[in-house]
Amino acid sequence: MARVFVTRQLPGSALDRLGAAHEVEVWPDRLPPPPAQLRAHAAQADGLLTLLTDRVDASLIEHSPKLKAIANYAVGYDNIDLAAAKARGIQVGNTPEVLTEATADLTFALLLAAARKLPEAIDAAKSGDWLTWEPARCLGAEVHGATLGIIGMGRIGRAVARRAGGFEMSVIHTGRDGGIPLSELLGQADFVSLHCPLTPQTHHLIDAHALAQMRPSAILINTARGPIVDQGALRQALIDGTIAGAALDVTDPEPPAQDDPLLFAPRLIVVPHIGSATRAARERMAELAVENLLAALAGLPMPHPIGS
Ligand code: DGY
Repeated sequence: MARVFVTRQLPGSALDRLGAAHEVEVWPDRLPPPPAQLRAHAAQADGLLTLLTDRVDASLIEHSPKLKAIANYAVGYDNIDLAAAKARGIQVGNTPEVLTEATADLTFALLLAAARKLPEAIDAAKSGDWLTWEPARCLGAEVHGATLGIIGMGRIGRAVARRAGGFEMSVIHTGRDGGIPLSELLGQADFVSLHCPLTPQTHHLIDAHALAQMRPSAILINTARGPIVDQGALRQALIDGTIAGAALDVTDPEPPAQDDPLLFAPRLIVVPHIGSATRAARERMAELAVENLLAALAGLPMPHPIGS
């Protein structure tokens, strides 16, 4: 029996399966284990089931002599030092595919909400500011037939593009597999949606210069990772009217401080990283993470290794 530390309770019954095979400790709190606690638990563990809020860095790996497997409960894995894990022969897996459609749905929900000014409209209906039918109330942008620029045409980017087909949008893209240059995409798109991983190359990809290349009527959507956007530059672009709006499922840091000026920027929607938050997706993610651990702790290759 191996020892496994799981950094949060997960939906569904996958953890029961893990518990039937191994000695499992689940961090019981709503908040993540503080770094010192994570290190202390990892130091004793053969396997870790981590979330994107848990930083698994080279030092943690160095001080975890028994560690053989890390199953990240996410498709993204920028919280894990892969090179350090590889150097130690530790298998690392993630949860691809099962959250693609849920994340694409949320992307479209944010796109529509920002385009059609839903937060403002909901506030008006609730606050007594719905006085009559007004010709110029909550005037938003047309989604149907607009141009959608997708940055990062991987699984989620392609799923967003499929949804755009239903709105008869023109889809342009940029990313590792080609497409058009970023500056062209930014200049042409009515909506710019981010679906690339966070890497040193994509950190602050959307900075003041990129925002200035977008159309003044354009809306930015980020359901990828917060640090891909320079949030100070985004706030300024919204204040100055450089772009028309933005909708973020992810921020840097997460959560932002309650008094973070970004949250008070005009025409900005922020939701708390809920892209994959459907019951089905989150339960399937737990199953994939558990399958990864069960395999690796039995000395087999993970079925969902990073990069698959
Ligand atoms: C991921 O999986 O990387 C998402 O950000 C959370 O589901």
